[in-house]
Amino acid sequence: MSSDQDLAKLIRDVPDFPKQGILFKDITTLLKDKDAFKKSIDLLAERFANDHIDKVVAAESRGFIFGAPLAYLLNAGFVPVRKLGRLPAKAIRAEYTLEYGTNFVEIHVDAIEPGEKVLIVDDLLATGGTVGATIELVKKLEGDIVALAFLVELSFLKGRERLKDYRIETIITY
Ligand code: PRP
Ligand code: MG
Repeated sequence: MSSDQDLAKLIRDVPDFPKQGILFKDITTLLKDKDAFKKSIDLLAERFANDHIDKVVAAESRGFIFGAPLAYLLNAGFVPVRKLGRLPAKAIRAEYTLEYGTNFVEIHVDAIEPGEKVLIVDDLLATGGTVGATIELVKKLEGDIVALAFLVELSFLKGRERLKDYRIETIITY
């Protein structure tokens, strides 16, 4: 496992999922490969080795796959951002737009202390809606957002333009 291209080859294209006309980038074929999964996490972690991250924040569900091992490697805490109604203690919510309708994500109010250095992680950057809502939550808790990290970026959906105030690190771009 030598390069980003080798990793990209392991992502499977699934036509017409979740609906007609969408070419879905399926990362499960990369995740099940022990060398590729390790390489993905290591490549992301090395970008933040000198950033003294206090908390890694990741959005349910696929964000957890990358967020938890990154937090471990960076010696940081892990904070889950969850879909509506899943968190047991006091939480705040943010709304984001889906193709049809809207959705909410939540974070516990005591998950981040003001001024803590936060890395936000997800598997994939598409329109930026999910990470945008996650940013809103971290800002409400006064976390200091150091960067946003993704394994995959779908550049044609222009998420990066919407997030131009932030440092964004990605490994594979389509
Ligand atoms: C997918 C993906 C990202 C998000 C990217 O999550 O895991 O979180 O979409 O799209 P965006 O940039 O347009 O927001 P999804 O909502 O499908 O849920 P999952 O992680 O639970 O599978
Ligand atoms: Mg997701």
